[in-house]
Amino acid sequence: MKAVAVVPGKKELRLVDHPLPQISSEKQIKVKTLDVGICGTDREICTFVYGEPPSGDDHLVLGHESLGRIVEVGSGVTRFKVGDLVVPSVRRPCSAHDCKPCLNDKQDYCTNGQFTERGINQVHGFMTEYYVDDEKFFTYVPEELRDLAVMAEPLTIAEKGLSQVYAVQKRLPWACAEPGSPSGKGLRAVVLGAGPIGILGAMKCVVEGFDTYVYSRSKAPNHKAELVEQIGAKYYSKYDTTPQELAAEVGNIDLIYEAVGGSEFAFEVLQVLGTNGIFVFTGIPAPERRLEIDSDILMRRIVLENLAIVGTVNADRKAFEDAITDLAEFNKRWPDTIKKVITGRYDVSDHQELLVGKSKGIKNVISFS
Ligand SMILES: NC(=O)c1ccc[n+]([C@@H]2O[C@H](COP(=O)([O-])OP(=O)(O)OC[C@H]3O[C@@H](n4cnc5c(N)ncnc54)[C@H](OP(=O)(O)O)[C@@H]3O)[C@@H](O)[C@H]2O)c1
Ligand SMILES: [Zn+2]
Ligand SMILES: [Zn+2]
Repeated sequence: MKAVAVVPGKKELRLVDHPLPQISSEKQIKVKTLDVGICGTDREICTFVYGEPPSGDDHLVLGHESLGRIVEVGSGVTRFKVGDLVVPSVRRPCSAHDCKPCLNDKQDYCTNGQFTERGINQVHGFMTEYYVDDEKFFTYVPEELRDLAVMAEPLTIAEKGLSQVYAVQKRLPWACAEPGSPSGKGLRAVVLGAGPIGILGAMKCVVEGFDTYVYSRSKAPNHKAELVEQIGAKYYSKYDTTPQELAAEVGNIDLIYEAVGGSEFAFEVLQVLGTNGIFVFTGIPAPERRLEIDSDILMRRIVLENLAIVGTVNADRKAFEDAITDLAEFNKRWPDTIKKVITGRYDVSDHQELLVGKSKGIKNVISFS
């Protein structure tokens, strides 16, 4: 079976002949890969800064953003049947007996860092023809989302991020929407960055009722800015608008959802977060930069204006289920726009260009079907 893999010992990225996986326990399902999304994490693994093969293997099969179809189920599987479309989650629990998150299927909050991640860390990924895993790591996908559900995994970042926002902002009961209204109604969200994480995050914010502004790098007009405007959000480039000008335009910024990756821009914009606001970091910068910031002023504001800052990583099954629900909503509201977030579908033979070539488009996908 063909698979796209890195061989860290040789600093190679190549197609490998990978053994066809077999069901080995009654709760497992076997999935035929349809689509695999490429993201910055895959490209970073191809620079060999991280990405660890399973013990005993010299290679790591890449791919953590997948959509597939079930071809076989174990005798104890209850949630799925052969023929179902599914998306798999990425992180697998650690084996510690005292890690409460992992013991409770919340390995996204693992306390000891000993978790593994498919396609990233010690477990092979999905950039291959078939894979097998326990049914609890999958989420059902309705047929109408066949062409979109490969974006479920990157959308889970916004799902988990927003659920943390609501958990924290329960402290402001007067700002919480009335029953029946979307949770962000009357509130303003600024999304930093217009890559896949930013655009999907902006779509989530719009659906949640926030007045949504996307603040990024490239000057408009450009493809990403067009998609942003099509969903009813407003696009601003940092080359045209300073954070202070943006804040003057927006009013009190209730939420900043960072999806840029670099700390400099994030900390610049953090300074204009509104009173009682919340800042969600999703980016994972390479640890290179040291910044000079007005730390006393920032600390005073955080304290005197009740600012909250949260990070969010990975996602649980609830976030995957919410992502599928929201992809269906995006498809209903903006059928042309959500399709255009996928800027290219490629054959597996194009993997070198996609993974180590010049970065292009928004979300690129390798199709195995
Ligand atoms: N927390 C998690 O679990 C998780 C999961 C997946 C990814 N991530 C992280 O999420 C971040 C975003 O991912 P992505 O795939 O959407 O990234 P991406 O495709 O690289 O997009 C980044 C966006 O930010 C803009 N940008 C980059 N540098 C900037 C700067 N200095 N100032 C202003 N804007 C800037 C880019 O502008 P242009 O349009 O001009 O290029 C682009 O629109 C990454 O750091 C990634 O590691 C986190
Ligand atoms: Zn990814
Ligand atoms: Zn754990």
